[in-house]
Formats: sequence, structure tokens, C-alpha cells
Amino acid sequence: MKTAKIIIDTDPGIDDAMAIFFAGLSDKLDLITMTSVFGNVTVDIATRNAMVLAEILKQDIPVAKGHGYPLVQIPNPVSDYVHGSEGFGDISAKVPNSKALDIPAHEYICQMINDHMGEIILCPVGPLTNIALALRYDPTIVSKVKSIVIMGGGLHSGGNVTEFAEANIWNDPHAADEVFAADWEVTVIGLDVTQKVVCPHSDFSALTLDAPIIGKFLEQATDFYIKFYKEAAGIDGCQMHDPITVIATIHPDLFTYEYHPIQVCLDTNKVGETQISNDAGRRAAKIAVDVNVDAVKKIFFNTIRTGF
Ligand code: BDR
Ligand code: CA
Repeated sequence: MKTAKIIIDTDPGIDDAMAIFFAGLSDKLDLITMTSVFGNVTVDIATRNAMVLAEILKQDIPVAKGHGYPLVQIPNPVSDYVHGSEGFGDISAKVPNSKALDIPAHEYICQMINDHMGEIILCPVGPLTNIALALRYDPTIVSKVKSIVIMGGGLHSGGNVTEFAEANIWNDPHAADEVFAADWEVTVIGLDVTQKVVCPHSDFSALTLDAPIIGKFLEQATDFYIKFYKEAAGIDGCQMHDPITVIATIHPDLFTYEYHPIQVCLDTNKVGETQISNDAGRRAAKIAVDVNVDAVKKIFFNTIRTGF
């Protein structure tokens, strides 16, 4: 039974596509909205791609367009070398039939949280710009969400775009720091766990046999993504950052956690690093530091395989 309503704030992106397919096909999650943000691609491409993914799922999932640049810093270049210029590796751009909602993402997030008090899982898997703007727009959302589970940062892992910073935090460190400073318990699914979950090409080719449409899409898109990991890190497979984060929203028991208040380094060469904060006013975040790799992989592939 679909018991939990989830909003995914996203910059699709190949692993974002995996996360969205997982949420759309999970029998436990009701993907009620997607909100787009710049990051892996521009916000226009992210918005278009979110709508395209909803159409592949054959589901009517509203998409609200979000912010196109960071709150304070000069934008970093998009990650076309990781996700391809259109977001899905070498898959060419598609034009969706649907249109984005006529309301900015951060306002829609607040509206949905107020309309479904205590029911919404907020799951940002891109830069945290829309979430920081939502907190500014309506600070009461902190006590009205069911939970907030973000993909970003890392406690012991170091970074993936710089030695210190993970991409989502690096793309808008000021927004991330506002989100960590707010009075809610943020669950952080960062590189400490997502880098442990690596899937080779054979996982996706096997998926194509059972789920030809989504499997083929992911097999094609991950060809590009896996090439990046091979060249950049010598890894034979791709890291499953965003789908693992969505899985954590419904299977928190598959992870182990440390609890610390977090701040984001906003200057120096460590910009974007998530650090333990000494600020007594900050609430501790629940930070995943280990994961049952086999279990999360199984849940991901079984859900896609049987859901479509
Ligand atoms: C995060 O950055 C993006 O490239 C991925 O989609 C993921 O959300 C990993 O650092
Ligand atoms: Ca992402």
C-alpha cells in the first residue's frame, strides 16, 4: 500500500532518474510532486527531464520549476561530463507533452506541506536552493513535514567534486547551510554511504530483460555515467547516490547513523565541506555512515523490475 507521500526536489540527472523511477514504482511511496533545480543540468533542462520521466512512468506527477542559480555564490558549471549535456548521458532530448505548474517550486513545496500536514517526506537530491527558499517563505514547514531526507555531503568521506565538497552542497553551500541550521532533524544520506553502492553495467542490462522500457533507458543512460566513473575514479560501475536516498526514506533500518549538528564551510578552499558544528543552537542531523549494500541494491532492482 502506498503509505507515504514524497516530494522529490531534483536536477535530473542519471541517478536522479533512478530515484524518480524508484519512487514512482515503489508500492510504499506516493510520488505526489517533483520540483526542479539547477545542478547536473540547467533548471530548464531539469524541469523538462522531470516531466519526461513522469511520462516514461505513465504517471501524472506535477512538476514545479525551481531556482536556476545558487543563493549567493557564482554558479558552478553544470555537470555535463557526468550526466551528459541533456542530463541522461547520450540519450537525446525529448520534449514532454505536459507543462510545468504555474507556481515556483519553493512556494509549491510549502503549499503541499501545509495541505498534507505531517504527511510529506521531503527528499531533495540536488542543490538545496529550493529548500532554503521554502524555509524563508514559510519557516513553519519545519514542524509540518513528516521527514526530510537529503542526498548531500559526507562526514568521513571527503568530497566528490573537490577534496572536501560533495556536488549538491558545493553547488549551493549557502542554501545547504540554511537547511542544516533550521530547527528540524535532517537525515543526511551522503557520500559515506552512497559511494559504497556501486552498480556495474551488467545490473542494468539484466534489468532491461525484465523491465524493457525503464531498464533500457537506464542501461543506455548509465553507459555514459559508468564511463565517467571509470575515467574519474577507476570504478567499474556507477554510484547510486539519489536512489539510495529515496530508499532511505522508507528503509531507514538499512543504514547506521551518527548524530551531529552540521554546518557547511562557506569560504576558503574547503567551501562546501559538511562539518560538525559547535553551535549549541543547531539541532543534530541524522547522518548515515554505513549501509547494507546488498539489501538496498536488491530493493532498487526488484522495485523497478516488478513495478513496470
Ligand atoms: C549528487 O550530485 C549529482 O551529480 C547527483 O545527481 C547526486 O545528487 C552526488 O554527489
Ligand atoms: Ca541529483
